[in-house]
Amino acid sequence: MIKAPTPEVIAQAADILLSGGIVGMPTETVYGLAGNALSDDAVLKIFAAKNRPAINPLIIHVANEAMAAQYVEVNDTARLIFKNFWPGALTVILPQVSNCGVSQYASAGLDTLAVRMPAHNVAMDLISAAGVPLAAPSANLSGSISPTTPAHVHASLGDKVDMILAAGRCAVGVESTVLDLSGDVPVVLRCGAVSAAQIGDVLGLAVAVYEEDGAESALKSPKSPGMLLKHYAPKTLLRVNAIDLEAGEALLGFGSLKFMGVKGGGAAVDLPEELVCNLSESGDLNEAAANLFAMMHQLDEVGARGIAAMAVPNVGIGLAINDRLKRAAQR
Ligand code: TXA
Ligand code: MG
Repeated sequence: MIKAPTPEVIAQAADILLSGGIVGMPTETVYGLAGNALSDDAVLKIFAAKNRPAINPLIIHVANEAMAAQYVEVNDTARLIFKNFWPGALTVILPQVSNCGVSQYASAGLDTLAVRMPAHNVAMDLISAAGVPLAAPSANLSGSISPTTPAHVHASLGDKVDMILAAGRCAVGVESTVLDLSGDVPVVLRCGAVSAAQIGDVLGLAVAVYEEDGAESALKSPKSPGMLLKHYAPKTLLRVNAIDLEAGEALLGFGSLKFMGVKGGGAAVDLPEELVCNLSESGDLNEAAANLFAMMHQLDEVGARGIAAMAVPNVGIGLAINDRLKRAAQR
């Protein structure tokens, strides 16, 4: 049930949410699977539809800072961050206000909560119409590629969603940056469009990106439970930093493909059209991020024996692109 988000449809979607249903919601990053964060039933429905492990907490989407302050302890650092980056692709983890009403399932029993104010009219209108915070993970089966179009949501979740609000392709294309402000020092747990350097500039200090130094130590001190899990996996084997192509591979390119050779002869530019996607011919990282998941979805369907992904510069949103590619390459 994919619908254009007219005011009447948004009112219908809000009714669905308030009666415990779940709705595919466009945001500027990726499509979310939204449910009433105050309702155990709705939150459990989200976990069930995605087949998501119960240990992986959800982001709570709010319409403004005042709404966030009902559920998390907002300190001066958080206020500064909100002022500079909200609405936008930045999720902030803060201590939860005790007995705040958000379902324990949404926070996976943690005493912190992730909050985000999305920069998307439809998402904002939906939160306001429902009048409750919306728990919304990416609207895909757990472990698969995040959706950047309404068709991706439908292909992954089908009839498990009560309605999908369609607002075209997501402008950013990779999930929000996750910033943990609940500890002694701010740490970026997931790279996204807002970089650790930008956050550091605002806070006047260097902000680190949390590195998983091996599954064992990460399991001992899990910072962001979701980051431990296998993610973004296409069905087709993907390899990163490809400098040439094996026969039968599809190419996920970046910039000029002229010098990419195919082992055994030929050049990447001569491959059949359906086997080649270029994240950005001009080498624009924002364009590449916006194309990333749609192109991964597309190349996953062409029956190639593998996907070779060319190197992407590891700066700005390129860090987020490389993080997602690295996870997609894990088996
Ligand atoms: O861009 C986005 O963030 C999208 C849109 C829909 O807003 N949502 C999204 O949600 O990507 P999801 O569930 O796919 O990713 C949420 C990430 C997970 O890695 C989860 O473990 C982490 O945020 N997270 C949520 N609550 C947390 C908490 N209290 N402490 C640490 N990590 C948390
Ligand atoms: Mg996700």
